[in-house]
Amino acid sequence: MPPVDPSTLSGIPAPLWFIQAFRIIGFVLHSIPMHLWLAGLPIVLLLYMIGGRNGSICAKRLFKQFPIIMALGINLGVVPLLFIQSVWYKAFYPSTILLAVHWLSILFLLIIAYYGLYYCSFQSENPKKRWTILAGLGTSLCLLAIALIFSSVYTFMALPSAWGTVYEKTSLSGAVSGMGTYWRDPILYVRLGGIIGLGFITFAFWVAFDALVLNQTEEEEEPAEVEQSEKKGSGSSASSAPLASKMSKKEKKKLRKMQDLTEEEELAELEAMEREENEAAAKTSKKSAPKKRRGYQAWAFTLASCLGWIGVLIASAALWYQYYQFLPMDDPGLAFLNQSPWKYLPMAVLGSLALPILVLTLGSWRMLSKKIFAAGIILSEFTILGLFASTRQIIQNGQLSGYLDINTFGIAVEWSPLIVFLVVFAVAICLIWKMIRQMANA
Ligand code: HEM
Repeated sequence: MPPVDPSTLSGIPAPLWFIQAFRIIGFVLHSIPMHLWLAGLPIVLLLYMIGGRNGSICAKRLFKQFPIIMALGINLGVVPLLFIQSVWYKAFYPSTILLAVHWLSILFLLIIAYYGLYYCSFQSENPKKRWTILAGLGTSLCLLAIALIFSSVYTFMALPSAWGTVYEKTSLSGAVSGMGTYWRDPILYVRLGGIIGLGFITFAFWVAFDALVLNQTEEEEEPAEVEQSEKKGSGSSASSAPLASKMSKKEKKKLRKMQDLTEEEELAELEAMEREENEAAAKTSKKSAPKKRRGYQAWAFTLASCLGWIGVLIASAALWYQYYQFLPMDDPGLAFLNQSPWKYLPMAVLGSLALPILVLTLGSWRMLSKKIFAAGIILSEFTILGLFASTRQIIQNGQLSGYLDINTFGIAVEWSPLIVFLVVFAVAICLIWKMIRQMANA
């Protein structure tokens, strides 16, 4: 594609650093809820199906939170979209128009996914799990398809050299049909692999944060099983009838003997039997009842550190491949990535992946106070995603520079929309905080 002549373009409405910073902030804020539904939902379904008592507590909490998380994620996705359209429109529109059918199918897939999440949220307490599981699976597949389309579109957007081929293949007598696809480039799957790995990390942080901060419910004592056995042992004489049915041979023999006893003696005999029964029940319940069941919080922290490890392994492998194996380093626009200080940025992303291991492991070992643990989770998450989103942005600028060099764009600051945007953004952040508190009470 011939390069765009910046003099033919109208000036951008705010300083470039400001627009890039808010695109990156917007993408980071969009990524957190997006990670939760992309990587988190399949894990929640697994916990719902086979997670045991704590797993189902976790699954039901997340199912109830997902509609709010989806609302947040969609609204936060609009932020970077606005900034992409204000500066990168010469790349964004041609690429999305060539892939229009796929791009617009996101809307239909999203509507199905949204209803699916609501269904799971409403039905999460229903003991009949089949339809909830099916709805959850369908929703997860829709969200995975949307994520694939997003990765395909943003990989294609940064490769103007590939647009011509798709145009030739799909244009109808010169008109763009929008039927183009871009699935053959392996980098888009590695890219999505990196995002799914980061998704596991975000979900791990969220499970820990939810158990630490949002979950207000008291830790339950040992569940009813033991009580049951106790109840069984301590039946009053009125309830001896059922006791008789469960009597061992030895006891039945004793009972026959009792028929000859006076009432007092019989009572004393019964009490002795009950005492024996209780001791036996207590012994068995202690033996049979699983070790004192761990509280939900301890379980959630352990789950979080396991998921954190899985996420770090997936993300570090995928991002390493993306940065050092698949990126076309012969592209002159990316040559700067071999020079300092830029060459340290991908390394910093990979290095920051140590944070979840550190924070989640120390947290699950109860070596951090509640405040430090919560702060560690928030700081690590924003550090990892901030570095990832900045590297992603700089790489995209580099790939586009041969066609669209944004550093040469003129600036024509429009203060009124800029001030309105900043005010609305500040209000939105307050609203988001309110929604998260809402979740705490959900
Ligand atoms: C209407 C709702 C949504 C909007 C407005 C939206 C907007 C965006 C925008 C603007 C970006 C690129 C940000 C940038 O490059 O700076 C993005 C990236 C992404 N979005 Fe969304 N999004 C939405 C819903 C979703 C959904 C439902 C998913 C499903 C999982 C999703 C997955 C992704 C992924 C995976 C990326 C990164 C693609 C890549 O770079 O490889 N988004 N989204």
